[in-house]
Amino acid sequence: MRRKLAAGNWKMNGTSENLKELKALRDAHPDPKVEMLICPPATLITSAVVTAADHPLQIGGQDNHRAEAGAHTGDIAATMLKDAGASYVLSGHSERRTDHAEVDEQIRRKTKTAHAAGLKVIVCIGETLEEREAANTLDIIAGQLAGSLPDVLTAENTVIAYEPVWAIGTGKVPTTDQIGEVHDFIRSKLVKRYGDGVGKSMRILYGGSVKASNADEIFAVSNVDGALVGGASLKASDFSPIITALENA
Ligand code: PGA
Repeated sequence: MRRKLAAGNWKMNGTSENLKELKALRDAHPDPKVEMLICPPATLITSAVVTAADHPLQIGGQDNHRAEAGAHTGDIAATMLKDAGASYVLSGHSERRTDHAEVDEQIRRKTKTAHAAGLKVIVCIGETLEEREAANTLDIIAGQLAGSLPDVLTAENTVIAYEPVWAIGTGKVPTTDQIGEVHDFIRSKLVKRYGDGVGKSMRILYGGSVKASNADEIFAVSNVDGALVGGASLKASDFSPIITALENA
């Protein structure tokens, strides 16, 4: 049984004012039946951890440097995220791949560094619109999985997020058939590379314009073990029904 995960990515949004949304979220789900995670900006991690204290709501980072420490002005080490109370970190989000020219090899190194620090990593992959229109989606996904994932991992410390780049922040969502095709494909690749035990136990999230109105149908798709949610995770009133939909899936 894979434990379902509702993950929110606040991206570069939020100041201490927004902690009230976390408080509202924990109050709305006193005894959640799924794992809940919010990845706020790094400046809010410590206070978010305090806000989530004594509740299963987990707090994560959005990125870590591939090095353990050193002369990397403006970057954050995985050990710092862990020390601040984060339990997860995102790796290779498409906005990092675009804004910071991150490639699979870097993402694999970041993931290994985060694992070494004791963080769970959500490794993000997904095709662009051009790649989908050229019928290259599965090749792109296979390449990103092969390049971004370390050879050594566990089903506990690694989660995959399939996020079609063209669906992120656009309101466009793939059909459930398209989501199912890619999630089944990812599952088969994980089983092939890591064996039945790990491959069948790792969670695969869908991300890209998930909202309360489409959550039920997305969560009914095979091999969808939860969601990575951007815009609709910023307000408790938007994210809470998505959590409930996942609980009921
Ligand atoms: P979105 O973002 O839900 O705003 O489309 C998803 C993501 O980038 O993880």
